Amino acid sequence: MNRIILRFFLFPVSILAGLFSFTNCASTKKAEIPVYLNDCKPIGDRVEDALSRMTLEEKVAVLHAQSKFSSAGVPRLGIPELWTDDGPHGVRPEVLWDQWDQAGWTNDSCTAYPALTALAASWNPKMSALYGKSIGEEARYRKKDVLLGPGVNIYRTPLGGRNFEYMGEDPFLSATMVVPYVQGVQSNGVAVCVKHYALNNQELNRTLTNVTVSDRALYEIYLPAFKAAVQKGHAWSIMGSYNMYKGVFNCHNPYMLNDILKGEWGFDGAVVSDWGGTHNTDQSIKNGLDLEFGTWTNGLNSGASNAYDNYYLAKPYLDKIRSGKVGTEELDAKVRRVLRLMYRTNMNRNRPIGKFTSPEHYAAARKIGAESIVLLKNEGNILPIAKANKILVVGENAVKMMTVGGGSSSLKVQHEISPLDGIKARYAGKAEIIYERGYVGDIGGSYNGVESGQNLKETRSADQLIADAVAAARDADYVIFIGGLNKSDHQDSEGADRLELGLPYGQDAVIDALAKANKNLVVVNISGNAVAMPWIDQVPAIVQDWYLGSEAGNSLADVLSGDVNPSGKLPFTFPVALSDGPIKTEAQYPGIAGANPDPGTAKKYKVIYDEHYTEGIFVGYRWYEHQSIKPLFPFGYGLSYTTFEVGQAKASGKELKGAGTVSASAKPSQPKHTLKITVPVKNTGKVAGAEVLQLYISDPECSVERPVKELKGFKKVFLQPGESSSVSFEIDPSALSFFDEQGHDWVAEKGIFKALIGTSSADIKTTVEFQLK
Ligand code: BGC
Repeated sequence: MNRIILRFFLFPVSILAGLFSFTNCASTKKAEIPVYLNDCKPIGDRVEDALSRMTLEEKVAVLHAQSKFSSAGVPRLGIPELWTDDGPHGVRPEVLWDQWDQAGWTNDSCTAYPALTALAASWNPKMSALYGKSIGEEARYRKKDVLLGPGVNIYRTPLGGRNFEYMGEDPFLSATMVVPYVQGVQSNGVAVCVKHYALNNQELNRTLTNVTVSDRALYEIYLPAFKAAVQKGHAWSIMGSYNMYKGVFNCHNPYMLNDILKGEWGFDGAVVSDWGGTHNTDQSIKNGLDLEFGTWTNGLNSGASNAYDNYYLAKPYLDKIRSGKVGTEELDAKVRRVLRLMYRTNMNRNRPIGKFTSPEHYAAARKIGAESIVLLKNEGNILPIAKANKILVVGENAVKMMTVGGGSSSLKVQHEISPLDGIKARYAGKAEIIYERGYVGDIGGSYNGVESGQNLKETRSADQLIADAVAAARDADYVIFIGGLNKSDHQDSEGADRLELGLPYGQDAVIDALAKANKNLVVVNISGNAVAMPWIDQVPAIVQDWYLGSEAGNSLADVLSGDVNPSGKLPFTFPVALSDGPIKTEAQYPGIAGANPDPGTAKKYKVIYDEHYTEGIFVGYRWYEHQSIKPLFPFGYGLSYTTFEVGQAKASGKELKGAGTVSASAKPSQPKHTLKITVPVKNTGKVAGAEVLQLYISDPECSVERPVKELKGFKKVFLQPGESSSVSFEIDPSALSFFDEQGHDWVAEKGIFKALIGTSSADIKTTVEFQLK
């Protein structure tokens, strides 16, 4: 911090006066304020003016890190440092200037929000907006300019270690949910940094994988969420991913960054490298990287004065320019982007000041959490638990802190309500709550020096733990088993994929034994991934919970008690077995080791894993439906404590015009031709609740192979008992299109299409046919 304070006081006094007096544009004596400091001037003019005043050294200095999470500003001009921080679920605690270790601040314990998988499971863009606004306020209060998130990599395999940080398997769902998050964060004058662009769909060998994928799968499956974040959300920065695509690392990949992101989509923000994702100066110069972070430094190389001088976009770049090996055209283009990012964030004097761990933030976390929980099974309506004398809670996840761990999204929280505490609080004075451990999972609880402070040591044997849980289960009215994964290595964590679909730590045996001991068994699975459930037929009630952050236990208790009627829907398919999924070969996953195809990085990385996404567009439900494989729980599935009746869908016409090319590169504009589809829905049960109507499009005849159907619309509707409503969707030709590889554009072919509306991908209630002309 001393360095920051020192820098601050070195600013020329006149500049400081300019920075801290709010400008009234009408009364400003414009001549006195340089354009770059004049907030009455358009950002473009200010960027150009700032650029024209910067020296070569100052320009290079803003293109790379100066600490773990910050980059230098231009102190001479009064342009402040740019501060970034993780991450998608809360604002990461302060680390030391050059190290991952804790800085030891006492004012950086944040509100943890539900993981992004949970947000996606709410299927409610309003929850995304609330999430974005709230986390943005926290980032702003903590003086962060760039929040490193959200992540929108597609859920390709249930083994993916970071799936919990992403928004599921469907491009339309994640593209819809990411936009309000981006807008909400940025309304605070804090930039998002959408990650990890792109094809970073696994943790195993994440820095050494070269992905080969068809253009069709790239554009239809892996890019839409990024594109929406850029074009609809207007994301101010994006993070390149660690992996390679077409034999070049993605942080300086000409196809991904120059051609698609900046070219086709017109992205005007800054490309930030993932931490340590930059490997080559020439490629960084030419291929679209703007801001380099996290490159390994030892402070000794090159005789440089400062470790960060060794970055690829630092002294090596400066040397190349000084020696005339490269010009300054790319340099200016990069600096413009970084300055634009600064004008949108730390140079915006009118941005709000934010707030931190406020009651509103906890309320938001609790609400989003409760809306995301998915009721998977509820035989005999054993849930909600309204009345009971004695409830037994079993399982390590009922007590284990989940906000610490999992990698860069790990947090230091002001509080975290465990499921057991949430349940105890909800039933206080109403039912006796007892607890049994059931199994031992991961007793650790630390990440980068943040300690959960929990003592989870256990001396009983696995058999004894089961015997004790069973004995307690016999005379309980209800047994709630709370298990799943836990963000330790291989159990939903950055840097290490899962090793199996099954639950770890012998949990299946515990569930089995509990099911035999008590017929009122509720299994709550906490994870960010699908898990196998061999005991499914023995358990009457199953709840899919997620990593819900600070208010985790309250959100869960809200749903178990019926205070909140569950309305979450699965954002990804639960297969019965891993082998049911699309990944069949080593070449598909985890890739086959071979030589590094890139001469520019071959010295540094000799071995690269070649990975072929040969399943193409058949990812998630697209695969299971294509192969007619029945999953354990389908995409979009989730029950409620009430019932809904969905009536007959009606279209505003029998035809839709606009067949042909639906341009890929144009900025989004209002579609010329649309079709409105309206569906009546009624709450036919006894309690208020919400249903998510999902609209899928099926194209029965096409010149290319297409999925059985694809999600192209969804709406969550809240209804009182007996209340009816009508839900409408607007379809335009882009919803009917596929990516044509030859023409490199989106094409909607003439012919018959079907709109299928249902309450999950496997439960279609009504269909309308129409013709595209
Ligand atoms: C992760 C990013 C993260 C960055 C900074 C990287 O290892 O992949 O998601 O934002 O570290 O912590």
